[in-house]
Amino acid sequence: MQKICFQLNGEKAEAEIEDYLTLLEVLRDRFSILSVKEGCGIGECGACTVLLNERPVYACLTLAVKADGCDVKTTEYLSKDGTLHPLQEAFVKSGAVQCGYCTPGMLMSAYALLQEEKTPTEEMIREGISGNLCRCTGYIQIMEAVKDASQI
Ligand code: FES
Ligand code: FES
Repeated sequence: MQKICFQLNGEKAEAEIEDYLTLLEVLRDRFSILSVKEGCGIGECGACTVLLNERPVYACLTLAVKADGCDVKTTEYLSKDGTLHPLQEAFVKSGAVQCGYCTPGMLMSAYALLQEEKTPTEEMIREGISGNLCRCTGYIQIMEAVKDASQI
């Protein structure tokens, strides 16, 4: 067992955890952060994407002990007091959400990209979300949403 302390969506978080637990398991099971989804569990789909020190990582492949002393952000960070973040609004407006399973991870990758580059090119957007698979939308609406959000 190990104690970890980290920032979770802007709040201090602590947990006593087994060394082998993934960040995905700890976020969902200990902190009820249910936006973080398990798709493949082996680093291929991106449904579990969260930000670790502002960089997108696959929570299914990241040991939770790695979060000790770090900043962790999930989709729950984006909306404030029931108001959606402009990026989330853009996803809704463009129809970039269908089944929604990929959406939280997709949002975190797109958010990280927009933090780094306010007006990304189409190529940059493609690259930014290349680690996130979507089985429903065909990506056109997602690309549109990220582009729209970049112009806000
Ligand atoms: S669940 Fe982590 S990459 Fe698919
Ligand atoms: S909206 Fe269904 S997987 Fe992307």
